[in-house]
Amino acid sequence: MNRTDFGDDFLWGVATAAAQIEGAANIGGKGPTIWDTFSKRPTKIRKGHKPDEACDFYHRYQGDIALVKTLGFKVFRFSIAWARIFPLGTGMPNKEGIAFYHRIIDECLRQDILPMITLYHWDLPEALSQLGGWTAFGINASFNEYVLFCAKEYGDKVKHWIVINEPFGFTSLGYMLGIHAPGASGVGNFFDAALHTAIAQADGAKILRAEVGQAVIGTAFSCSEIIPYTQSVQDHLAAKRMDTLMNRFFVEPVLGMGFPTADWDVLEKFAISHSTWRHQQRMTFDFDFIGLQNYFPLVVKYNAFIPVIQAWEVKARSRKVPHTAMGWEINADSFYRIIKQFAAYPSIRNIMITENGAAFHDKLVGHQVKDQERIEYFEKYLQAILRAKQEGINVTGYLAWTLMDNFEWAEGYQARFGLVYNDFKTQQRTIKESGYWWQKFLSK
Ligand code: GAL
Repeated sequence: MNRTDFGDDFLWGVATAAAQIEGAANIGGKGPTIWDTFSKRPTKIRKGHKPDEACDFYHRYQGDIALVKTLGFKVFRFSIAWARIFPLGTGMPNKEGIAFYHRIIDECLRQDILPMITLYHWDLPEALSQLGGWTAFGINASFNEYVLFCAKEYGDKVKHWIVINEPFGFTSLGYMLGIHAPGASGVGNFFDAALHTAIAQADGAKILRAEVGQAVIGTAFSCSEIIPYTQSVQDHLAAKRMDTLMNRFFVEPVLGMGFPTADWDVLEKFAISHSTWRHQQRMTFDFDFIGLQNYFPLVVKYNAFIPVIQAWEVKARSRKVPHTAMGWEINADSFYRIIKQFAAYPSIRNIMITENGAAFHDKLVGHQVKDQERIEYFEKYLQAILRAKQEGINVTGYLAWTLMDNFEWAEGYQARFGLVYNDFKTQQRTIKESGYWWQKFLSK
């Protein structure tokens, strides 16, 4: 397998997110975000870690963008921290925050790296969370104001945009299960947040289309093949519900199909009480690319005790299959199948893998991190993409998660996903063997 097998136009990049790398939580006029607040609550984040400093990318961005270049990538995906632009989420913009993203973009362009902006990667301004965050109807007006501002400010220089990162990720973990910021729970909160997010992803895209000439607009969905644990009818139905929720729920409204209510009575009941769910047109947008992000397949079995979904994950560890340090199953065939599942929607014409990667128990020994497992992981996952491409599926890019070890949400600094090792005490970066593997792969 060579880089050239993927075609000359294939976009190779790395993906990052503001809250995970920037640090400078209280610097440059940035307002607090829900992750700043959430991380102060005891027991919410492993070992009490906080995103306050993270990788200090805020001050070290030049060197970090140089690393992207050194590794041979063409694309640098980063997100804008909404609270750096609007410290209170809306109202007065913050000059220092605006200037910071100009510096990043300019540095990318100077180093001949293509900047790709994610507008929302989970770090909602705390002030908006106080008003209900994504569960509140008012969030859409604030989000649109923020998107319009960014489009006008950066649209001349940046053409590649991702509106929202993994709507299912933050609405389920943050508003249903309470294990991510803002720590809300309950099915009602989830459905409210989901509706406003589905509206935001299309609204945001329409604003970009109107404001940014030659924009290439995408949005990024998490996806996981759902595999029934046994052949029983109950397990099959449990898997179908999980698939509806995890894979179909946010993409189908975008494609003009509305929420997949017909396939799950709970959704249908909820839709009846929320007439806005029927507003299919507002949730629809013809994206230039659909971003897919895959980390694991999910094996599920029926469980009557789990409210609403009545399905339960059978963990990779207990099934004794190969898995990462996160306990996520390594299964490149499943990656291939989930790409095919999304490609089967006739209106999805262009898929970009906007995140994929793995955490392992990396150790810095001398100046080396020997992460052979990660190299093997990338080799297998890239093969899976190639197989899909050879079958005619239009996959146009791959962004590895992630440039360097960072603040991995509720896992704190423990989970290391980077191609570059970060020593969080000294902020010393060390390219891992997998980073060198990429360098070699991309140079041919
Ligand atoms: C994604 C998320 C990233 C990163 C990754 C690894 O869901 O978008 O921010 O944390 O998972 O867990």
